[in-house]
Amino acid sequence: MIPNQRHLFDLPDDVAYLNCAYLSPLMHPVITAGLQAVKRRAQPWDIAAEDFFTTSESVRSLFARIVDARPDDIAIVPSASYGIATAARNLSIARGQSIVLLAEQFPSNVYAWHEAAKTSGAEIIAVPRPSDGDWTAAVLAAVTERTAVASVPNCHWTDGGLLDLAMIGRHCRRLGVALVLDITQSAGVLPFDANEVQPDFAVAAGYKWLMGPYSLGFLYVAPKRQEGEPLEHNWIARAASEDFAGLVNYEDRFQPGARRFDMGERSNFQLLPMAEAAMRQILDWGVSAIADTLAHMTASIAERAGALGLDSAPEELRAGHFLGLRFPAGVPADLLDRLHAEKVFVSVRGDSMRVTPHVYNTEADIERLFSVLEAAQV
Ligand SMILES: Cc1ncc(COP(=O)(O)O)c(C=O)c1O
Repeated sequence: MIPNQRHLFDLPDDVAYLNCAYLSPLMHPVITAGLQAVKRRAQPWDIAAEDFFTTSESVRSLFARIVDARPDDIAIVPSASYGIATAARNLSIARGQSIVLLAEQFPSNVYAWHEAAKTSGAEIIAVPRPSDGDWTAAVLAAVTERTAVASVPNCHWTDGGLLDLAMIGRHCRRLGVALVLDITQSAGVLPFDANEVQPDFAVAAGYKWLMGPYSLGFLYVAPKRQEGEPLEHNWIARAASEDFAGLVNYEDRFQPGARRFDMGERSNFQLLPMAEAAMRQILDWGVSAIADTLAHMTASIAERAGALGLDSAPEELRAGHFLGLRFPAGVPADLLDRLHAEKVFVSVRGDSMRVTPHVYNTEADIERLFSVLEAAQV
């Protein structure tokens, strides 16, 4: 278990922030890295050509460690939707095939597939929410020989419903189905091993459980997909881009590995140092230790909520960091307002109230949550 880490965050004592699935708060070292980066950017004569590469390579390596991949397998992207669009551009999908998604999946992992279905004539299958909560079995049943792509998360963004990606990965490989993952709601907080799951593509936006800045994310690209076509053609993704004077000599070859999929201006001087500081701290804590700590926290919240009549998925069917609470008659209309009035922050997605803590949350935060829930007589 990780001891409480609230001192690292800019969280006033009277704020109970249980909403990391929305936007993580920033740690002091991340804020400092950002401020220093802006100051440095003010004096460009101190920014050398190699600086366009060093921090990019450092964050690539840090994210690679978080998902058990090689730095060569990671591209730097602005958003989850960019990663999904890259995947959709590089997978072949034919008329009559299916694209498997989850019902109520996050839209950035839906719209690109709707477009791909329109242009290819493929069918979208949105796996309905299983009544027994077992998403893995439901996805395994939906992915058949007819499937071109399964594009799913590690846990459902509304309530944390868990998918066994190693099992789904094996099933996809057996049938020759491409596997695309949106791990935005799990990267950095649920152990993930790219060697075991073997997705074709896996993307994570960096501002939630990776605790970094907005507008920066990471895309894992399987070695067999690294000859693919990037969404955009920028100078730095081409071979020999380190030689600024030589950029007039246009290059057909790319930088090695997944770097060809890097977004334009990926060397973002303001944001990369912040992401770097955040991922260093996550690796210092250790993803497994974070997972265990948060699973313990949400289990005790789930138990207490259960006594109030609020339902949640059994522990083995939800991600440990992510609790979706369902109310017998739906989420009361004024509940979020009542919680905000007491500076308790959670979110409502679909018909569930998401409670998503992190290592900065204290017993006092949880008491504040329950004092509102109990007073609301839900
Ligand atoms: C599952 C999931 N994926 C992706 C995102 C963000 O998508 P994007 O980076 O395309 O804005 C969110 C934001 O809530 C999310 O919950």
